[in-house]
Amino acid sequence: MNIAVLCSGNGTNLQAIIDAAASGALACRIVLVMSDRRDARALDRARLAGIETVALDPKTYAGREAFDRAVVAELTKRRVDLVLLAGYMRILTPYFVGAYRGRIMNIHPALLPAFKGAHAVRDALRAGARQTGATVHFVTEELDGGPIVLQEAVAVRPDDTEETLLARVHEVEHRIYPAAVRLFAEGRLKVMAGKVIIA
Ligand code: GRF
Repeated sequence: MNIAVLCSGNGTNLQAIIDAAASGALACRIVLVMSDRRDARALDRARLAGIETVALDPKTYAGREAFDRAVVAELTKRRVDLVLLAGYMRILTPYFVGAYRGRIMNIHPALLPAFKGAHAVRDALRAGARQTGATVHFVTEELDGGPIVLQEAVAVRPDDTEETLLARVHEVEHRIYPAAVRLFAEGRLKVMAGKVIIA
């Protein structure tokens, strides 16, 4: 199985997938790491691991769909079976979702459907939530709204800052994202009526 990972930032989740693949735990190959930012640290992590990288600048495309068409062209060229969003700060267009329906996963730093959006950890803290967590889900046209594959809770401590809470959420992310990829690669994930069944 060929995997592509799309990142905009640090890429610690990418690193967790790289490490899991290198340890032989995933039965798949990361064939491409893509970014919408040339300066993404994730690209350095990929290069260090000997993985091909492509960075495309959204500003040089006519619009969001034109950009996504270019991304999808790179994916199909390399016969990518599964697309992983890992800190990818763009909302996919219906074109992209349609081209890879059921074959795109995302990791989100909260227990969806709670705290959707780009500031999930901060929002959970501000709301005074006792628990938050991390979720791996399939990507649909609805932002942070697709069928949930795996999730795990993280207790919020009274003295947590965004930084300390995020660090514990990340620990969970780095465990459940590779686990979800493994389930996909083993053909154990089925979506029925909007819910994921794990065989
Ligand atoms: C993660 O917290 C993920 O849940 C969110 O973006 C963050 C990316 O972190 N979608 P990293 O780049 O993988 O370190």
